[in-house]
Amino acid sequence: MSTPKRYTITAALPYTNGPIHIGHLAGVYVPADIYARYLKMQGKDVVFVCGSDEHGVPITIKAKKEGVSPQDVVDKYDGIIRKSFQDFGIAFDNYSRTSAKIHHETAAAFFEKLYKEGKFIEEVTQQLYDDEAKQFLADRFVIGTCPKCGNEESYGDQCEKCGTSHNATDLINPKSAITGNVPVLKETKHWFLPLDQYEPWLKEWILDSHKKDWKPNVYGQCKSWIDDGLRPRAVTRDLDWGIPVPVAGGEGKVLYVWFDAPIGYISATKEWAARENKDWEPYWKDQDTKLVHFIGKDNIVFHCIIFPSMLKAEGSYILPDNVPANEFLNLEGNKLSTSKNWAVWLHEYLEDFPGKEDVLRYVLTANAPETKDNDFTWKDFQQRNNSELVAILGNFINRVVVLTHKYYDAEVPQPGQLNETDENILAELRAYPAVIASSIEKYRFREAQAEMMNVARLGNKYLADEEPWKTIKTDEARTKTVMYVALQVAAALSSICQPFLPFTAKKLSTILNLKKNISWPQIASAEALLAPQHVIGKASLLFEKIEDDAIAKQLEKLENTKRMNQAEQKSVEEQKETATFEDFTKIDLRVGTIVSAEKMPKTKKLLVLKVDTGLDTRTIVSGIAEHFSPEEVVGKQVTVLVNLAPRKLRGTLSEGMILMTENAQGELVFVNPDEAQVSNGSTIA
Ligand code: MF3
Ligand code: ZN
Repeated sequence: MSTPKRYTITAALPYTNGPIHIGHLAGVYVPADIYARYLKMQGKDVVFVCGSDEHGVPITIKAKKEGVSPQDVVDKYDGIIRKSFQDFGIAFDNYSRTSAKIHHETAAAFFEKLYKEGKFIEEVTQQLYDDEAKQFLADRFVIGTCPKCGNEESYGDQCEKCGTSHNATDLINPKSAITGNVPVLKETKHWFLPLDQYEPWLKEWILDSHKKDWKPNVYGQCKSWIDDGLRPRAVTRDLDWGIPVPVAGGEGKVLYVWFDAPIGYISATKEWAARENKDWEPYWKDQDTKLVHFIGKDNIVFHCIIFPSMLKAEGSYILPDNVPANEFLNLEGNKLSTSKNWAVWLHEYLEDFPGKEDVLRYVLTANAPETKDNDFTWKDFQQRNNSELVAILGNFINRVVVLTHKYYDAEVPQPGQLNETDENILAELRAYPAVIASSIEKYRFREAQAEMMNVARLGNKYLADEEPWKTIKTDEARTKTVMYVALQVAAALSSICQPFLPFTAKKLSTILNLKKNISWPQIASAEALLAPQHVIGKASLLFEKIEDDAIAKQLEKLENTKRMNQAEQKSVEEQKETATFEDFTKIDLRVGTIVSAEKMPKTKKLLVLKVDTGLDTRTIVSGIAEHFSPEEVVGKQVTVLVNLAPRKLRGTLSEGMILMTENAQGELVFVNPDEAQVSNGSTIA
């Protein structure tokens, strides 16, 4: 595309069925934010939009599980997610919601237009139906075997293992995710977008025109889908949560979430334009607008094939210029997982590392899964903080600022004649904006950020070579020149780091007492960024060292998660030898209540309990003192084996046994009648 006149940048709308974690930030939101910030710094006309994706099956499943309404679920997580984005400086021009009125209207109108123009196929087909739940099953309501890769836990709309998107009826051995039942087939009417009709056009648009500029992972996925042959795809669902189908015969049906959600980008732009008194249409309809979708790899088919086909069918919209999808980020070698709680949640990170938003942004970009899946480890996080942010960037700025205060009372000194080294340093500095810009424009954010760090390295090396702390004693004039040059590098950094480290950029501007932000063209020009006599501000540290114990704490947290997950999957002990009915009737189990408890003196494990068994109140010595305090157990109703042969434990006669088991976390728990309100002495059989 020749130089675009404006940019529409979108970041995938997160589902509001849970908070967001480092994987979301690394894969989508940090790169999108770097890109948008960079463009805005270049003075481009940019709108950067996102919002909450509030429809779809996962949200209704979550609501059912928690016993609340879907609206409660989306309200809760919209709030949490919105705050996380703000906290980490993801600077959307608008963060909307698909429950917004403007979105319902926009999506419904979009559907209606395609409907009126005959762009859909209307068809009565057999769909999976759960007779017990009295509900049609689509998308995540069905689990079965993926016809492509054999994954036995594929969802109805997409297999998470191989990425294939399919129709629920394609699954082998489908099961209802609601009841576990085998679904039946039942007739229902739906509207389909005939993707097959768009195949020739998609071939030309993607396979021919974007072979060179789309990332190989994105292009490859598109090619494989197109080569497999595209089929009509239902864009409506038999559900009650979503945007009602706005045409006759659509009663009781809603738009498919992947039909409405991407239109959310358009609604978010409209909402923004209305607020800013602008016209939204050029951002979506003018050919000289560059549209870029930032997404994770599981969203590729929707953004490269389905949504573009919808836009094409509608006819008045532009198409994405690029879809720089990332691969996945892992955590300490394992796949990030919301259900297994294998994640670093953004809101929890900030509790443990307040003020370290940029550290996480930096580490996630340094390890961005741009070309392959990548791993986040806490050791690497510490290492990058301590030996890059602290030791290189922070250290350089601190030295420059402290020395300027010490030698020149905070005033930028008047330089003398620049020697060849100085000229080289400044020439190198001037070349950086173009280098970094070129990486960013190619969506290579890791590379861009590494170059930013090289600017700080350049400054550090210059100071180490020129040693102003030595020359100050022998050559005042030379020292002034060196400090002047170093200050120019520091000033450039305040601007160069802005897309990557926005909080640090702000701090640095304050430290340098910059009245106006420095632009990249300014850095590239020969003009002074900090003029002699400018007075800089107070020194303060940009970054601080992260100690081993902070990292150990995070690793321990993950260890605990692992333990919990293992306990949940703990293998079940094998069944014991057969017991005859006779054997069983010998055992006398009763319900009892613990009426008092005290620790057995000089032991760690034993509690002496008095238990009301309904027959009597007797003493039972139980080895649970490491798991329960005496106060905790008094009043508990428990199961007691009352006819166990009495025996003496540490001199106390124990007349029975309390039955215990372990819960999923591996903790000891009582086998109790679970508030069934049975009276003591009741037999258990
Ligand atoms: N909610 C989807 C996900 O988290 C992404 C939706 S992107 C949009 O995978 F284009 F539909 F908005
Ligand atoms: Zn599969």
